[in-house]
Amino acid sequence: MDLTLSRYHQARLDLVSGIKALVGYQISPKVRARYEKWAADNAVPEAKLRDRAFLGGQVGRDPLYQASRGLQRITQEMMWREVAAALEAQRRELESDLDRVVSGNGSLTLDPSLKLPAYFTETEFHLQPGGLWRDPLTGPIYEIGVQHFNLHRFGKSGAEMGLALLQAVAGRPVTRFLELGCGPGYKMYPVLDAYPQAEANGIDLSAALLKYAHRRALDHGKTVHYRQMNAEALDLPANRFDLVYNMILLHEVPVAATRRILREALRVLEPGGLYADLDLPAYRDLDPFTAFMMDWDTDNNGEPFWRGYHELDMKQEMIDAGFTDVRFVQVTSDALKNQGNYQGKWSYRVVLGTKPRAAS
Ligand SMILES: C[S@@+](CC[C@H](N)C(=O)[O-])C[C@H]1O[C@@H](n2cnc3c(N)ncnc32)[C@H](O)[C@@H]1O
Repeated sequence: MDLTLSRYHQARLDLVSGIKALVGYQISPKVRARYEKWAADNAVPEAKLRDRAFLGGQVGRDPLYQASRGLQRITQEMMWREVAAALEAQRRELESDLDRVVSGNGSLTLDPSLKLPAYFTETEFHLQPGGLWRDPLTGPIYEIGVQHFNLHRFGKSGAEMGLALLQAVAGRPVTRFLELGCGPGYKMYPVLDAYPQAEANGIDLSAALLKYAHRRALDHGKTVHYRQMNAEALDLPANRFDLVYNMILLHEVPVAATRRILREALRVLEPGGLYADLDLPAYRDLDPFTAFMMDWDTDNNGEPFWRGYHELDMKQEMIDAGFTDVRFVQVTSDALKNQGNYQGKWSYRVVLGTKPRAAS
C-alpha cells in the first residue's frame, strides 16, 4: 500500500510539523527557562511545584506558555485535517486495497458482533477525527499523523518502542507472544525480527486498524495473526503465551479497564510468562514542569485517560493483579539513538511482571 503524498499535501504537512518543531524546540524551552528562574528566585518548594492548580496559576499566565499551547492545539487539528485531505484523493483505491483479500502468511479475524466500549467510541484520541475506528482509512491516517505528531524523531518505521521492549526483555526466549491494542501493528516489527520463529498475535478493538495492520504486515512480509477483541475480556485460552505486552494502550483506557486488562494478561500468560507495559513515565518520576506540560494533553489533546494512567501506581496495580517480580525499566531516547524533545531526553517506562509458576 503506497502512502506517498503529493508534493502539495506533503508541503502543507511539513509546514504544520515545522510549527510543531518551533513549539517543541524553540518556544517550550524558553517557557521552561522562565519557570526555572521563577522557581529558583522564589525558592518554591517541590510540593508546591507539583500542585497543578498552583503551577497553572503561575506558568499558565505566561504569554509564551499560552502561545505554545495555542499553537500546539491548532497544529494538532491542522495535522489531522491535512493528512485526511492528502489521502482523500486516493480514498477509493486505498479502501479497496484494504478490502482486497490477499493471500499470504498470518491471518485477520474480525468480530462484527464485538461491543465496543463507550470510552473507545466516544473519544477522538489525540484529536483524530472519528477516533480510532470510524473512518475506514483510520490506519493510514493514524500512521502518517503520528509520524508528524512525533516530529519524525523515531523514523518512518516507528520502531522505537519495539526496540525498548527488546532491551527490557533482554534476550529471553519467546515462542508465542501477544500484543494487546496493537493498532496499525508496525511497532511489533522489531519483536518479529528478533524472534522470527515465534508465533505472533495482535488484538485490537478497531476493525479499521486491524485491516490496515494485516495489509501492512503482508506488504512487509511479516506473519502475524490479528484478531478483533477487547483486551479487557480476551477470547483466548488461559496459559497460552510466554510474552504478553502493550504499547501506549493503558493511557487510552479508564483505570477500571486497566485493572481488567492486567488480569486478562495474567490469565493468558503461561506460568513463568512475562508481561510488559510500555508507556511514558508516571508524573511522580518526572520533574514538576515536565509533568505539568504532559498533563496538558489530558484536557486539551483528546487524552481523557492520560492523567489517570500517569498518576497510577503501576507497580502496586501489577502486584494486585497477581504478578510477581514486578519492576520498572527505563529506556531513554539516547539508548534508542533518537533525539529528545522539549521534555528533555525522551524516555519510555517498561513495567515488567511475571506470572507466578504456582498460578494457572
Ligand atoms: C494509542 S493506540 C497505540 C497503538 C499501538 N500500540 C502503537 O503503539 O502504535 C491505542 C490502541 O489501543 C487500542 N485499544 C484501546 N482500547 C482497547 C481495548 N480495550 N482492547 C483492545 N484494544 C484497545 C486502540 O484501538 C489503539 O489501536
